Amino acid sequence: MMSDAAIARIEEICKEYPNRKSALVPALYVAQREYGGWLPREALREVAEELDLPDSHVYAVASFYSMFFLKPVGQNIIQVCTTSPCELRGARDAVECFKKRLGVGVGETTADGQFTLMEVECLAACDRAPMAQINEDYYLDIDETRANEIVDALSRGEKPPYAEFEKNLGGSHPIAFSDEELGIDVSGIMPAEPVVKKEKPAEAPADAAAKA
Ligand code: FES
Repeated sequence: MMSDAAIARIEEICKEYPNRKSALVPALYVAQREYGGWLPREALREVAEELDLPDSHVYAVASFYSMFFLKPVGQNIIQVCTTSPCELRGARDAVECFKKRLGVGVGETTADGQFTLMEVECLAACDRAPMAQINEDYYLDIDETRANEIVDALSRGEKPPYAEFEKNLGGSHPIAFSDEELGIDVSGIMPAEPVVKKEKPAEAPADAAAKA
């Protein structure tokens, strides 16, 4: 069962969205953290109940996104992007490097439970391909040396240096935080006042008569 603190966090998140259904993705993040990095059926059911959604809807969303895991995963999740731009710049080699180093295939977890290796779709860092998301950070320009350095550091319990722009994420996924916490200024994006639909002006009697 989720802790009171996790439920309270989901309630807080709900206040930042127009309705409870919209808060599903960040709520799943909270549940995933709460359940030790993956989402068992029980967690999905709890989220569904908390947000007043059908279990099937919660399952559909959780199974669609690659950042949610429906079975236990390793302590470190290596997700190598293998979409075309990364593929063209050596993503296949990067996957092979991790496979060789970890001794597991794609979708598998090392026997010590330290690493899970996955292939995922574009993670929007195509300009520094090949790249991988490892836990919540982006690692760019991956070659064999870099892959080994990353695994070495993670095995020692250290966080390998990651992409400069990733420091903004502060080690936690931004979706679970408010715009204010993230320092995002939405004033130019969100309307200051509610948008009111303008009524079409009524035709002047003279215009209406001319048309008749
Ligand atoms: S194709 Fe790999 S990050 Fe976009």
